[in-house]
Amino acid sequence: MPYSQKRALNYAFLFVITFSVTTIVWVNHYLQKKNRIYHNQRHGSNAITLREEIPSHEVKLNSSNSPPTEEGGDVLHKTYLTSRSQCPREYFLLIMVMSSPYNFKRRSAIRNTWAGGQSEERWKTVFLVGQGEGETVQNQRLAAEEEMHRDLIRGAQKEHYRNLTLKTQMGLEWASKYCNFQFLVKADDDVFVDPHAMINHLKRPDTPKTNLYTGRCTHRGFPKRGGGKYAVSWEEYNKTRYPPFCAGPAYVLSHDLVPKLVNLFNNVKNPLPLEDVYIGTLINKIGGVKAIWHPGFRTLEYGPCRYHSDIFAYHQVKGEMCMNELFKSAMKERDKQKQQQAVFLR
Ligand SMILES: *[C@@H]1O[C@H](CO)[C@@H](O)[C@H](O)[C@H]1NC(C)=O
Ligand SMILES: *[C@@H]1O[C@H](CO)[C@@H](O)[C@H](O)[C@H]1NC(C)=O
Ligand SMILES: *[C@@H]1O[C@H](CO)[C@@H](O)[C@H](O)[C@H]1NC(C)=O
Repeated sequence: MPYSQKRALNYAFLFVITFSVTTIVWVNHYLQKKNRIYHNQRHGSNAITLREEIPSHEVKLNSSNSPPTEEGGDVLHKTYLTSRSQCPREYFLLIMVMSSPYNFKRRSAIRNTWAGGQSEERWKTVFLVGQGEGETVQNQRLAAEEEMHRDLIRGAQKEHYRNLTLKTQMGLEWASKYCNFQFLVKADDDVFVDPHAMINHLKRPDTPKTNLYTGRCTHRGFPKRGGGKYAVSWEEYNKTRYPPFCAGPAYVLSHDLVPKLVNLFNNVKNPLPLEDVYIGTLINKIGGVKAIWHPGFRTLEYGPCRYHSDIFAYHQVKGEMCMNELFKSAMKERDKQKQQQAVFLR
């Protein structure tokens, strides 16, 4: 190629790059602006101060039972939920993963392993994310992630472990308003869920299809007073023991329980900061629902990263390596089962 042509090509290339970058920056700016306007329109001019001063469930809202209206309709949420995306269709399993805004790696590991491969589309995985500290670069990365994957459910509450209950509340409100599903799995982002094994378990004839609340549940929980991450004060919880509850890393609720739980959010001003115990107290209020312990929900806390075909949720998966390891084994097991089925059908 002659030199002049090469140079022209170089210039063209430079031009294209500059043009793309400008366009991206501009679109990004435009979207952010649009978002702000949208937010102000929805909440009125003083709504932002309102939100910061009073938890939204103390504000007397009238919309808890109204169905979502068309885009831009004026539906407010009773929790901190800000997302209004809808599930495109019904799923057998809706998996809601609690995740910190800047846990990019963990979400990516989950998308690349167990949440992927939804070819049969029987389950959907979404991430529940609160508000970070407002570091611009991080927030831009988060916005890009949201745009790309469209699987983040956002809330206005600040991200903090004492705010996890607010996050569970917003997740359940989103699930009950915007998604149709048979079972809901609430998980953390250090959990490996084996959706196939989970679905097989939930489809068994002896698994209840309604009034189901299951996981690593305990009937012998006691409040921890004093200090520490799991401590609660007497003001926060004034009984000497907890009702039965299923441990936070992974538990399952049948679809019928979700709106019932959301209805009960009204009665609580400052929800118990321990989200799993909180759900236990609401389940207790509903009445007639047992917290069912199941060995399929396991913790790896004290053991090696090892796959078992009869486990469908592993907690405390330390790092991407273990996620990948479990995923590979789970896929192998699935192939094995498929082959066995094929032999059986022949
Ligand atoms: C709540 O809804 C009812 C009926 O839909 C309506 O009559 C009432 O005025 C509403 N209250 C507020 C505070 O919006
Ligand atoms: C929880 O979120 C609210 C609302 O964003 C915030 O005001 C509060 O400080 C948060 N709590 C903690 C312990 O961070
Ligand atoms: C415990 O708290 C509940 C409401 O949170 C209240 O109705 C009840 O009276 C309290 N019990 C005691 C012994 O303080």
